[in-house]
Amino acid sequence: MAAHDARAIARAFAPRHPLGNRWDYCYVLSKLRSDPLYPGVLEALRGSQAPLLDMGCGLGLLAHALRHDGQRQPYRGVDNDAAKIRRADGVAHRAGLAASRFEVMDLATTLPEHRGSVAILDVLQYLPAEAQSALLRRAAAMLDGDGRLVLRMALADDSRRGRISRIGDRAANWIGWMQFRPRHYPDAASLRTLLEQAGLRVSLAPLYGNTPFNNWLLVAHRA
Ligand SMILES: C[S@@+](CC[C@H](N)C(=O)[O-])C[C@H]1O[C@@H](n2cnc3c(N)ncnc32)[C@H](O)[C@@H]1O
Repeated sequence: MAAHDARAIARAFAPRHPLGNRWDYCYVLSKLRSDPLYPGVLEALRGSQAPLLDMGCGLGLLAHALRHDGQRQPYRGVDNDAAKIRRADGVAHRAGLAASRFEVMDLATTLPEHRGSVAILDVLQYLPAEAQSALLRRAAAMLDGDGRLVLRMALADDSRRGRISRIGDRAANWIGWMQFRPRHYPDAASLRTLLEQAGLRVSLAPLYGNTPFNNWLLVAHRA
């Protein structure tokens, strides 16, 4: 992401008081500078006007990245971390993000209604295997018009990157950034089979850039 976009997005997360907590600001700036996630997702969604459901949206960074990229589709983010949703909603409001809303939702027990595009970014591993399959089948059925399903996830394998991803997720839980520990890492073949059986055409490519993690981007649309 361009340095000026990264700085502008991060500034929206800066505390209003000079002595306020700068954690979100620093996290957002370093994430946007180091992780190729958002450029990859923006590219995958570009050209579609379909409303976007962002499952496990965290601080709602994708909504900011979309608007900075000139993408105007309606955005709805859901996450089970009520504190993050509160901050996401407050920052989006202050930044004047158009057509963006946020809700607390536990995707392990609730699957939302939606038609359009779906993003699930760095979230799957926090759900048990059966809940992942149910979520993905439901997400596939949500695709409408030129809607796209965009997933980013660490894949299960025995590579060094795979091990570093698992350690990184456990550390994020240990320092309190993630409320929950990872439950299950999906593998490429099972993901592809499930989505193709649901009638989607799937493309899968590495998306780790200069990071040490085993992150892949999957983009799917109706065949
Ligand atoms: C690594 S963060 C990714 C956040 C965001 N998708 C992004 O890419 O910036 C994983 C997110 O998944 C959320 N999450 C984990 N388990 C969840 C569940 N059962 N239901 C909803 N959200 C969940 C976490 O609260 C966290 O915000």
